[in-house]
Amino acid sequence: MRLQDEAPGHAAVIDAPDAPAGFEAWMRAELQAVESALDAWVPADTPAGLGEAMRYGVLDGGKRLRPLLVLASCHAVRGTREAALRAAVSVELIHAYSLIHDDMPCMDNDVLRRGKPTVHVRFGQAQAMLAGDAMQALAFEVLTPASGVAPALQARLCALLARSAGHAGMAGGQAIDLASIGKPLDEHALRDMHRRKTGALLQASVLMGAACGTCDAPAWAALSDYGAALGLAFQVVDDILDVTQESHKLGKTAGKDVHDNKPTYVSVLGLEAARRQAADLRDRAQDALRRSALRDTATLAQLADMVVERDS
Ligand code: IPE
Ligand code: IPE
Ligand code: MG
Ligand code: MG
Ligand code: MG
Repeated sequence: MRLQDEAPGHAAVIDAPDAPAGFEAWMRAELQAVESALDAWVPADTPAGLGEAMRYGVLDGGKRLRPLLVLASCHAVRGTREAALRAAVSVELIHAYSLIHDDMPCMDNDVLRRGKPTVHVRFGQAQAMLAGDAMQALAFEVLTPASGVAPALQARLCALLARSAGHAGMAGGQAIDLASIGKPLDEHALRDMHRRKTGALLQASVLMGAACGTCDAPAWAALSDYGAALGLAFQVVDDILDVTQESHKLGKTAGKDVHDNKPTYVSVLGLEAARRQAADLRDRAQDALRRSALRDTATLAQLADMVVERDS
């Protein structure tokens, strides 16, 4: 097993494409780089099989949108590769941990995730809870190597990740989600919940990538707006796919929000208005990129399109 202090040897620099034709190739290469880094940094040899549950929860599955945002944003500011790859892995670890806990019987009680039985179904509830806990800690361990990333950058990345994952972000949003079952939230409250539970980590992915390079205040603010719009759009589309897509295509149980009486963009606004919201948010994300005045934002623009046009 590789120590989290060692960078995996595969981490070659892959230039993000500014032409659409190169986007698919860039994505394939980066997905491979992220998978290899996760494989190297998520341990197998831990006490009592905990590593097996962690690896099951995070390897071989998922769209890896958050790592792709980190890497594309780093490219836009010509940042450093080692820091960005660590940031990409750390944000995926937090995301995968949030999914493991989200699926547990005390939360959404789901049995299917990323096309496989959920972690608690496969390993039991206690192991699923601990795997999530350990992945959260591992995310910060990956961000703080003994060398290779400047201490000030390590601290900045940790702060961005912690704030987006904690009470003001993902965990807080998840608490609101569970407290809102069966309640008719208004649009403002719904937006606030979605921004926290999903948007915050996606926005942090963009900002962590930007922190790996040089970015003036107006460009930082524009990337922050891009991340906020894309992050909210992502959960609006998740709500839409829950009612329009099949479980086998999603790799998770479709129709779960209606079944569980969750307030969503579809239940509150209706399907057509939810689709319009997603399209408006995509436009806002693209406007923000133009405002950034950064040159290499084509990949970020394509990722925003992908978020809204996706079918799984
Ligand atoms: C699902 O996220 C949970 C939400 C935050 C809506 P993703 O749709 O990114 O899940 P994976 O990573 O591709 O499995
Ligand atoms: C989950 O939202 C957001 C997280 C922080 C994990 P959902 O409960 O809608 O995600 P899915 O639909 O189960 O992936
Ligand atoms: Mg949930
Ligand atoms: Mg869920
Ligand atoms: Mg959902």
